[in-house]
Amino acid sequence: VNQGNGVKGLSETGIKALPDQYIQPFEERLINKFVNETDEAIPVIDMSNPDEGKVAKAICDAAEKWGFFQVINHGVPLEVLDNVKAATHRFFNLPVEEKSKYTKENSLSTNVRFGTSFSPRADQKLWSGKIISVSSLSLKLNHHSFGLTFASEFTNQLYHSLDLYMNKSKTIVRKLLEYLGKNLNVKELDETKEPLFIGSIRVNLNYYLICPNPDLTVGVGRHSDVSSLTILLQDQIGGLHVRSLASGNWVHVPPVPGSFVINIGDAMQILSNGRYKSVEDRVLANGSNNRISVPIFVNPKPESVTGPLSEVIANGEEPIYRDVVYSDYVRYFFKKAHDGKKTVDFAK
Ligand code: SIN
Repeated sequence: VNQGNGVKGLSETGIKALPDQYIQPFEERLINKFVNETDEAIPVIDMSNPDEGKVAKAICDAAEKWGFFQVINHGVPLEVLDNVKAATHRFFNLPVEEKSKYTKENSLSTNVRFGTSFSPRADQKLWSGKIISVSSLSLKLNHHSFGLTFASEFTNQLYHSLDLYMNKSKTIVRKLLEYLGKNLNVKELDETKEPLFIGSIRVNLNYYLICPNPDLTVGVGRHSDVSSLTILLQDQIGGLHVRSLASGNWVHVPPVPGSFVINIGDAMQILSNGRYKSVEDRVLANGSNNRISVPIFVNPKPESVTGPLSEVIANGEEPIYRDVVYSDYVRYFFKKAHDGKKTVDFAK
């Protein structure tokens, strides 16, 4: 039943019960642990507010208290977001032979991968669809070039949608980093500072398939992000949950049309010496709809040193993390993924 097409193959056969391998231990399921959005909710920040100081403060406060927030009126045109969502659906509806051109073994570019979102070991148990992961070390926000090779006219179109999405998102990425940086006394994202925050970019197209027993499993298990900042586009299905620092509850991130969900990653927590928080999130499986999400991961340069910023510890603050080479941190992170938070302790 399942040959070559993983969960998607299973889902398309219309199976009525979840195979045992996907059943998560009770404590990893979400059913009895999440709270109503009216009790606790992550902030939604309107970036078109003419009082820029207020916007910057709301963003920095949210980064400290939640590590997660949504932004609306961020300047990226809605057509660009719709276009990327439509392209994602088109890609995942391609025949398996077409998608298989992008597996690790077949892809013409090391920057383009069709596979699982974390490690194959962890994902064997997850009811997530496969993702195509587009990564580039050469992409800078102002000199944009993916340098990708796609295998067909169809995926060329996908590439053009992504290219537009990335280009149009540059301004908001820079703005968010400027606000967060200024609050840490980083005056400017100049040539020495920029690589600490933005040195490589990755975009994932995530596809979560309809699940016959969504209560018994999860789409993506709990994890924090390894990035400095993640900018996520989600559709209207919902299911993303964030761990509240205040209560420890799992709080739903309701889809807000046209918004981006922003979160602080581990690298930013380390750079800020723990002021900004990289918190756990996870995604519920859905019993009636396929869901997509498109995160842009903004990462430090792989060879850069990630440690508390000199501006932060200049005032005598004790560094709570040591310096680590970012690529070593990433390697460690992917060994630990889905074992929950605590990856950041590697830098202690
Ligand atoms: C992720 O946490 O990597 C994906 C989040 C989502 O799909 O909403």
